[in-house]
Amino acid sequence: MIFDTRCLPADAESLLLAAELLRQGRVVAFPTETVYGLGADALNESAVRAIFAAKERPADNPLIVHVWRREQLSGLCAVTEAAERLMDAFWPGPLTLLMEKTPKVPDVTTAGLPSVAMRSPDHPVARALLKACDLPIAAPSANRSGRPSPTSAAHVLEDMRGRIPLILDGGECRVGVESTVLDLTGEIPTVLRPGAVTPRMIAGITGQCAVAPSVMRPLMEGETAPSPGMKHKHYAPKAKMTVYIGADERVARVLREQYDRTENAALLAQTQVLPLLGDRRAFSIGSTPAEGAHLLFQRLREMDDLGVSRIFAQGWEPEGDALAVMNRMARAAGFDIVHV
Ligand code: TXA
Ligand code: MG
Repeated sequence: MIFDTRCLPADAESLLLAAELLRQGRVVAFPTETVYGLGADALNESAVRAIFAAKERPADNPLIVHVWRREQLSGLCAVTEAAERLMDAFWPGPLTLLMEKTPKVPDVTTAGLPSVAMRSPDHPVARALLKACDLPIAAPSANRSGRPSPTSAAHVLEDMRGRIPLILDGGECRVGVESTVLDLTGEIPTVLRPGAVTPRMIAGITGQCAVAPSVMRPLMEGETAPSPGMKHKHYAPKAKMTVYIGADERVARVLREQYDRTENAALLAQTQVLPLLGDRRAFSIGSTPAEGAHLLFQRLREMDDLGVSRIFAQGWEPEGDALAVMNRMARAAGFDIVHV
């Protein structure tokens, strides 16, 4: 189906329109604190199929179901005691919990998996919309498959024009990378995708928290992805990208050298390193991992728009609160990471 996509400021009137569209089984893009989501009624199979079609997402990659209050979980999944405590601590917020699903959740939504991913976003527009329709809403990031996740309504429009009827514009997303995905179906809670809620914060509640090895390395041959999203090409800019980690001066020297010997290159570096790069084409990724997370996807899109063919970027050590941004940088760079 081809739509005349409307992009409206999220006010009372557009929220009502969006809720009505969701009730009719349509797809609506809306802001969350992490990235923009592409939402539809999670219990309506044809509505969920329309999300996969708009995104061109492979059918074996399951969706996250969004709720505005915990009561909505009842009948949809088995809520464990650990889940209760994690929800007390981090909901609403950027933490997605994988729990065993009931037959009420259609297989299209979970791509046939026995678990369902649940999250309650911490964004006034997302919450108002979820409340207005009062449906569990399946919502992947609102990018076309393989593109960086959208952190503004303009990014969503770039990817979704003609494919969906409505985008609610709620400004720039605060966090900038997607939620932490935590698997609660095994013995030990395990982070499948790092986000703003860190393994350490989770361990503070549950006592233990593991991190899936594939968070910072490619899957090995024959290895199955714990989360299907990890086997798909992700967060890829058009340009080939290499990430350097090390002391500022050393990284700056490598960035300068690589830039000078490469055609149509661009640099992505921390704010304090920019003055060391002269008048070369360089973009800031902020000075902390949280700023990096907020800026990364936006910068990748900007460089795509400029037709850059090679990106040399500065990264952080992939640990602590830098794990989330570095997981995305690593994937954007096809794991081409060099310590200098
Ligand atoms: O911050 C976010 O989580 C955003 C906003 C819109 O809420 N949503 C988002 O959704 O990032 P998406 O579909 O782009 O990423 C969902 C990830 C995928 O890697 C998917 O494979 C994984 O969660 N996932 C979902 N359900 C799963 C399940 N039952 N088992 C394992 N992995 C699952
Ligand atoms: Mg996504």
